Amino acid sequence: MPRITVISADGTAQTVEAKPGDSVMQTAMAHGIDAITAECGGAMACATCHAYVADDWADRVGPAGETEADMLEFAACEVKPTSRLSCQITVSESLDGLVLHLPEAQV
Ligand code: FES
Repeated sequence: MPRITVISADGTAQTVEAKPGDSVMQTAMAHGIDAITAECGGAMACATCHAYVADDWADRVGPAGETEADMLEFAACEVKPTSRLSCQITVSESLDGLVLHLPEAQV
């Protein structure tokens, strides 16, 4: 199973196993990572699953799509070029080792 590392704003890193086909948001929620709140449940309607893809993963994960980028404008924290809604990143074997940083707040 691919492993994903999520680093909270305070620097705490958590590496979790992810199921291919799930979203990164679903993976985080399943492992109790509460710095992702995901209020809309993955419907791309809230921006409370905001995450920053680590720079060296940005090309492989790709940028936010147009609708996703529009929704990111509602994110509570600074939006960076590597910002994504974690509910829109689908886990696959090719993302084994993915590293994400979380913003200080989601709301
Ligand atoms: S969970 Fe609401 S936009 Fe991702």
